[in-house]
Amino acid sequence: MEPQTCILQSLVGGVAIALTYIILFHLKLSGSKFPYPSGPTGANMPIHDPWVQYQAWGEEYGKLVYIRESNTLIVNHLDVAYDLLEKRARNYADRPVWRVGDRIGAGSINFTFQRYSNKWRKSRRTFMQHFRQATIGQFHTAQYEEVHVFLQRLAKTPTDFLQHIQTFSQGIIYSALYGFHVEQDDYVTRQSAPLIQELFNSVLAPFPLLEWFPWLERLPRWLPGCGYKQAADQALKGFMELKDVSFNRAMERFEHGSKNSLIAESAMKHAGSPEEVDGIKIMGVASSIASFVTISSVVNSFMLAMVMHPYAQAKGQEEIDRVIGRDRLPIFEDRQLLPYVEAIYREVMRLNPPLPLCVAHVSIEDDVYRGYYIPKGCTVIPNIWAMNRDPSLYPDPDNFRPERFFEAPRPFTSINDIPAFGFGRRVCAGRYISDGTVWLTIACALASFKMGKGKDEEGNEIDVAGGYTSSPGLGFFRHPEPYKCSIVPRGPHVATETGKKDLIG
Ligand code: HEM
Repeated sequence: MEPQTCILQSLVGGVAIALTYIILFHLKLSGSKFPYPSGPTGANMPIHDPWVQYQAWGEEYGKLVYIRESNTLIVNHLDVAYDLLEKRARNYADRPVWRVGDRIGAGSINFTFQRYSNKWRKSRRTFMQHFRQATIGQFHTAQYEEVHVFLQRLAKTPTDFLQHIQTFSQGIIYSALYGFHVEQDDYVTRQSAPLIQELFNSVLAPFPLLEWFPWLERLPRWLPGCGYKQAADQALKGFMELKDVSFNRAMERFEHGSKNSLIAESAMKHAGSPEEVDGIKIMGVASSIASFVTISSVVNSFMLAMVMHPYAQAKGQEEIDRVIGRDRLPIFEDRQLLPYVEAIYREVMRLNPPLPLCVAHVSIEDDVYRGYYIPKGCTVIPNIWAMNRDPSLYPDPDNFRPERFFEAPRPFTSINDIPAFGFGRRVCAGRYISDGTVWLTIACALASFKMGKGKDEEGNEIDVAGGYTSSPGLGFFRHPEPYKCSIVPRGPHVATETGKKDLIG
């Protein structure tokens, strides 16, 4: 071989090796032959409104954002969420290990936090027997009653609307599942709000820190900053009491002839099996927690949107007046006939999903997607907030515009079009009752009230900033910051204590 050829070959070989090395380094090749998706390195996971930072990373790194240090994949786009969490649902059905939650037994009050296991399957099956689409009609009476009572409370003491929203969001579950009605000053209503707050503060808020530095958990309780342990134990104890008090009340009433307690009926059927009965009790307490944090956030967001966007409110009211008149309140059978009201509901759920980061899923096996390697045990965070603000799906995404649903027509028939309820095997187990409850509340509130800005003592309107706040946790719970609102009945058909009977339709 000519010496020049030899030198040339060595040079080419050297360049090829160097190039391969650079490419491998650049692609951060995994143990598999596929590269990890790109993403920030050494990233400090944002604590406040992380969905905003995650969205920004998406713009920088593309559709898959992978954080190597924590084996976390952030999904900012709906098509990716469907591909992974729906089409490959089995592989993404696990939840993260949650040390603090596990230690205090949080899985025993809500199976949202349980790993993908037989225990979770059993809890979910018990739940879905009652909450699946085919059986949801059984809750209609409770939904009408609770929504109408909510309207009456708003008519009576409109300035307490935030309190009414909270009572309503719990009342719907007590009425639908336990078969009894709760008022604001009821033991169960009074107990659960502070308990849920305590659960956020003591169990969910320290979550990221303790998951990243598990040794912190071993520090003694008396050290400054470690009081959360006691508080977490107390919160769980409180929930256990609440679980029993609510259950016993339902059983007592059932035994005294009250007919409509699903919890009591199911418990009677499984009286021989304490394990089954406990599953039923858990279904009750899990539902009341879930409803309290989600339905109250959505109804609150709806009221805020109506205060801030009077034109949308007026259009919704015009549709209701035209289609069903002013003699009665909307009922479920009207839903298909009220597309603008539907669009208001969908726009509220789009802009302000109560769980903007869904609840994290975890991959069970290694996976390859779009040529990238997603390792087993990867925490997948569906950024619903960003998906719902994708400008290619929703032009002018930050604006509240129900009209958008008519410009790029999307079918209104499927609840699957509402990403706010999550994905795949872990999709919200209470979505059918929530969807119906929130829609009915929106339709009835529009029919009954003109919602506007609150007034100060001199009668001047108080501006509404439209801000949101959130409580950290496994996901995050987002809800409007307090604001003032005026709620004025639109006419004599409004639900009042005396007129209630005529309104049920
Ligand atoms: C507007 C109201 C609600 C919204 C937006 C909502 C949203 C969600 C979301 C995003 C998840 C996580 C889904 C995922 O991981 O992919 C979830 C899970 C869950 N939700 Fe809801 N939720 C609502 C109301 C309710 C209610 C009222 C109940 C109970 C009656 C409920 C019961 C559950 C349960 C049990 C899970 C855990 C499912 C599992 O891990 O298998 N939700 N919800």
